[in-house]
Amino acid sequence: MLPKRRRARVSSGSMPSAARFPGVAIYLAEPRMGRSRRAFLTRLALSKGFRVLDAYSSPCHLLSPGTEKVTLKWLQDDKKIPPAAATLRVSSEVTHVVMEQTSAEDAICWQESRAAPPAPGCARPVLLDISWFTESMAAGQPVPVECRHRLEVATFRQGLPSPVWMPPYACQRPTPLTHHNTSLSEALETLAEAAGFEGSEGRLLSFSRAASVLKALPSPVTALSQLQGLPHFGEHSCRVVQELLEHGVCDEVERVRLSERYQSMKLFTGIFGVGVRTADQWYRKGLRTLDDVREQVHGLTQQQKAGLRHYGDLSSPVQWPEVEALQLVVEAAVGQALPGATVTLAGGFRRGRSQGHDVDFLITHPQEGQEAGLLPRVVLHLKKQGLVLYQQYRHRCRDPAPQTWQSHTPDTFESSFCIFRLPRPPGAAVGGPWPAWKAVRVDLVVVPIGQFPFALLGWTGSKHFERELRRFSRTEKGLWLNSRGLYDPEQKAFVHVAAEEDIFRHLGLAYLPPEQRNA
Ligand code: UTP
Ligand code: MN
Repeated sequence: MLPKRRRARVSSGSMPSAARFPGVAIYLAEPRMGRSRRAFLTRLALSKGFRVLDAYSSPCHLLSPGTEKVTLKWLQDDKKIPPAAATLRVSSEVTHVVMEQTSAEDAICWQESRAAPPAPGCARPVLLDISWFTESMAAGQPVPVECRHRLEVATFRQGLPSPVWMPPYACQRPTPLTHHNTSLSEALETLAEAAGFEGSEGRLLSFSRAASVLKALPSPVTALSQLQGLPHFGEHSCRVVQELLEHGVCDEVERVRLSERYQSMKLFTGIFGVGVRTADQWYRKGLRTLDDVREQVHGLTQQQKAGLRHYGDLSSPVQWPEVEALQLVVEAAVGQALPGATVTLAGGFRRGRSQGHDVDFLITHPQEGQEAGLLPRVVLHLKKQGLVLYQQYRHRCRDPAPQTWQSHTPDTFESSFCIFRLPRPPGAAVGGPWPAWKAVRVDLVVVPIGQFPFALLGWTGSKHFERELRRFSRTEKGLWLNSRGLYDPEQKAFVHVAAEEDIFRHLGLAYLPPEQRNA
């Protein structure tokens, strides 16, 4: 049941009685979507004149006495809804089922568990990924259902129909958290990472793009021919996939994974404060292990020393309950330092991941300017509670800003890279297997409200998604995007936005929710 305030808003929007697209009745399947997001999407669709049903039944199965269930229950309760609308909804049947973060296999199971096969002459509702929904909302009308939208494309055991169409930029297509080609994409990502260790940016990008295409496919690749026509599949990536399909392993990938160079570089770059350049220098000096690194303690920065001190904790993934605990303590400190300031989770956890290497929080205040100088006060509150093991302020953005840009926006974000001392959750047995606390990497970033949508978009990632989004802006639209703004070099002007959605719209892209940015 929606809160009253929300119900009122729904009922004042355009109602199903005035549905503009009579052949389309959407059912939003909740399991992976969550109730509040489903309610949000429902309101969005209604406001655009779509019909949305809150019970699932396929065509020709509506002649039972249970038919009345095919209504928006929370709307039906609302006295403001005209009876005509209710009648229409009652006689509706679902034509389009929309799911989020659901594999084709799960979607089919879900459908089979809900309804008997349709009667002769009646089509089953089509099972669609959220991408069809978001594109339709952006277009203001139902977009034609394409292969890439469908969750039941072929049967998954037969693999992909060929050819599958895929837009070239990762920001032009949804990439869910879980997908159908994990072993293939991981192999290509290993090669991308290894190329990065050698400073081969070009090869890193080629392998990353090919891996990302695989993540966006609606079903598993089972034959090399299915790669035909897909963007970013060069000879090398095709060869890797072919070997994996034929033998289950790829020699080159295995060689890389087992190599001393890759293993050492991975180990070193896994230390907080160590980038590829430092790791490479250490490797060239003959260092191979953490003990080797510890022995040359004089050459280490404070950050690296902290990274080494807490290496064990920091190399074990951060879990969701830890994120929740951290959010509470950061919110409390921010609330004390500046009432009205807000804390927003970004990074991989915002994209729906249940584990991560760190936790990224954005801090802002609805009144621009109030946030200035906030970070030291927040950190002080946290330190007083003994929650900070290490922290370092940073005032420079990671992206080199365009020259004109710098002159327009001299201020960069205040940020702090911290290691938190997160106490064991209350209730965990004292003296049990858990130590009293765990070191966790946290990034705190303070953002003026006017730049907040850009910062949120930039800090939500994934890294590859951001890289592609910026490349798309520059190459296709002639606009410069980073975490602080969108700049039009021709007009010499910044684009003003109120939300992430506006940025997508400005770039002519269908909006992708965070959980579809796992490129
Ligand atoms: P992360 O490195 O935290 O990655 O950057 P992640 O996706 O959350 O995954 P984990 O933490 O490894 O599990 C999150 C986003 O923030 C941007 C990155 O480009 C990425 O898109 N970012 C990160 C910056 O813009 N600047 C930084 O200094 C760090
Ligand atoms: Mn992160």
